Amino acid sequence: MTDVPATTTDSGAPVESDEHSLTVGPDGPLLLQDGYLIEQMAQFNRERIPERQPHAKGSGAFGHFEVTADVSAHTKAAVFQPGVRTEVLARFSTVAGERGSPDTWRDPRGFALKFYTTQGNYDMVGNDTPVFFIKDPMKFQHFIRSQKRRADNNLRDHDMQWDFWTLSPETAHQVTWLMGDRGIPRTWRHMNGYSSHTYMWINEQGRRSWVKYHFKTDQGIECFTQDEADQMAAADTDYHTRDLFEHIRDGEYPSWTLHVQVMPEQDAAAYRFNPFDLTKVWPHADYPLIEVGRLTLDRNPTDHHAEIEQAAFQPNNLVPGIGPSPDRMLLARLFSYADAHRHRIGTNYQQLPVNAPTVPVHSYSKDGAMAYRKSTDPVYAPNSKGGPAADTARFGAPPSWQVSGEITRAAYVDHAEDDDWSQPGTLVREVMDDSARDRLVDNVVGHLLNGVTEPVLQRAFAYWKRIDPDIGRRIQEGVSAKAGQKDPKADQQADPARSSMQHKA
Ligand code: NDP
Ligand code: HEM
Repeated sequence: MTDVPATTTDSGAPVESDEHSLTVGPDGPLLLQDGYLIEQMAQFNRERIPERQPHAKGSGAFGHFEVTADVSAHTKAAVFQPGVRTEVLARFSTVAGERGSPDTWRDPRGFALKFYTTQGNYDMVGNDTPVFFIKDPMKFQHFIRSQKRRADNNLRDHDMQWDFWTLSPETAHQVTWLMGDRGIPRTWRHMNGYSSHTYMWINEQGRRSWVKYHFKTDQGIECFTQDEADQMAAADTDYHTRDLFEHIRDGEYPSWTLHVQVMPEQDAAAYRFNPFDLTKVWPHADYPLIEVGRLTLDRNPTDHHAEIEQAAFQPNNLVPGIGPSPDRMLLARLFSYADAHRHRIGTNYQQLPVNAPTVPVHSYSKDGAMAYRKSTDPVYAPNSKGGPAADTARFGAPPSWQVSGEITRAAYVDHAEDDDWSQPGTLVREVMDDSARDRLVDNVVGHLLNGVTEPVLQRAFAYWKRIDPDIGRRIQEGVSAKAGQKDPKADQQADPARSSMQHKA
């Protein structure tokens, strides 16, 4: 007898050997009746589930969110009432890379949170940037494909990335951000998280406001240069995953302070920027940051597959006091994620422990593959048999706003200062300093020299000149100078088949 448990089959019966298959004599053939061997092989063949379409590479941890201020004038959501502490799951990720890709590729980072609130799960599925590349969901699939791999050689390709970006001028703000220092965070602990989208908050009196979330890192912002990131991609593909796990294991718990910008509902129509346009920020001078509370991560997963790979975040997990806004990207996301989970994990994914709320579920959903929660009669509503009934008095009014207009396919109507170039121009001229601008130019020149061909290259120069004439000129000169010094290997580098996201030219 040893002090370790005896191995069993999945049905709990003891197995005879961890090492030897059932054979006819030591040198004879295998027997089909070796149920344990067959179970091991069959289970192994089914261990993988599809990776997330975007955001496949990532990891996460558990923790809590504690409200440190009083924002009850703006929302009645239980999770944001003074002093409330809520358990949270966080997952961080890159966007374009596959499950095994390097953590330090230049890319936005996902910043997904699941709050297990007393009113059901609330998911805030954001990124480490306050804006996004596009503003209409019709372009999302195309955008992600341009970031992933070509059809012919299955390689990533800067030429198609810049082709898409330069034909989509609304990408300029996010691309400027991405090519700047914050395009490669040093660790997940050293980056901010943003809702990016505008959401609605509703207070106890029914007053509605528009809000944007800013989770500011308490560790301070730190970034990798392109060279540092390239070296790290080679030295430790999973550097960000390891960093988070080890810091939490060693008791150095990362935290973020949540602030919100709050816009009174009636300001939206006349605000100088369309407040629902995901490619724009609200300048802090217009809507200052208001503190809400602190997010702390203090518990590692013990089974990455069960708790992180099978975690299902969905922006439509909203709770009373928090609603969507007219941002059409957000409205599309309200459908897309649950659909992805049904495909990636299975119909009853919300019954898995990591996704299940901590409050009782009284829904009328039933059955389906791998149903674990038992259904009870009555299985329909309305009924007179004591089944759940919606509390319309308390939660009846959906988050809403006034709409009118002809059904159409059209761009947003511009507000007074809406254009694609001003806010990235402000970022370059007023937020970055000289050395940050130098690194921006270097990063873009390196990226363009890595496989971008004519006429996309000329469009890229024009794009940057629209953002800032001086930066655009320097990028063009940098590309021309370096292209002129090409060595014999340069032709290979210019071949899209040889390009990759992480290497500088
Ligand atoms: P502010 O001067 O009030 O804010 C500038 C913001 O830029 C700060 O939040 C700062 O973040 C962030 N920042 C600093 N360095 C970089 C960088 N290299 N890349 C990206 N962001 C950086 O100005 P405004 O609010 O008027 O915004 C000016 C521009 O700043 C915007 O056009 C936008 O590009 C960018 N920005 C604006 C944000 C907003 O919500 N208003 C949020 C983030 C960026 P931190 O305080 O964490 O250092
Ligand atoms: C993941 C769709 C825009 C943040 C995903 C997934 C899909 C998707 C299908 C994979 C989900 C899964 O399999 O678990 C879309 C669509 C968008 C959009 C259709 C626009 C129309 C955005 C934006 C943000 C964002 C604007 C940030 C503000 C994330 C994050 C994840 C993710 C963080 C990973 C979540 C996790 O860690 O599990 N997206 N997305 N997405 N998306 Fe989006």
